[in-house]
Amino acid sequence: MESPQKTERYGEVAKEIAAVLDGENNVIARMATVSNILHHAFDHYFWTGFYLVDPEKPDELVIGPYQGTLGCLRIPFGRGVCGAAAASRKTQIVEDVHAFPGHIACDARSESEIVVPVFNGAGELVAVFDVDSDRKSQFDHTDKEGLENILKGVFA
Ligand code: SME
Repeated sequence: MESPQKTERYGEVAKEIAAVLDGENNVIARMATVSNILHHAFDHYFWTGFYLVDPEKPDELVIGPYQGTLGCLRIPFGRGVCGAAAASRKTQIVEDVHAFPGHIACDARSESEIVVPVFNGAGELVAVFDVDSDRKSQFDHTDKEGLENILKGVFA
């Protein structure tokens, strides 16, 4: 998808998510809804979902609500793309996951990836949001801005 169309689509999806989540405070319901709507809105999404900071092991991520094939259950901070996003608290865009040191291949079909850190209202890291594509170089600044905008409302 070209970037202007993709920007517009992220705007529409953000409105749809806000409308569906209006009045719902349960965070599992909110995360499940965000994963579902985004996963079905874009055809470059192959795996879509949350890894949560485990309250019992604060340097480890544990699987949250997602859409797609079976995801790995746990990822230590600093490992793979999700672990890098959690450790750095910065969005990671990877054009070719096979070239990323320590990439965790939960599904061998993943080729490119974006991972966005997710913060609560107090600014603490509570999760990362991971999207994988089965094609290379599928994510750019449009996905980064679109996703960061949607995700800042999930735990706020
Ligand atoms: N690719 C991720 C692992 C999670 S899954 O792909 C669902 C990573 O290296 O962080």
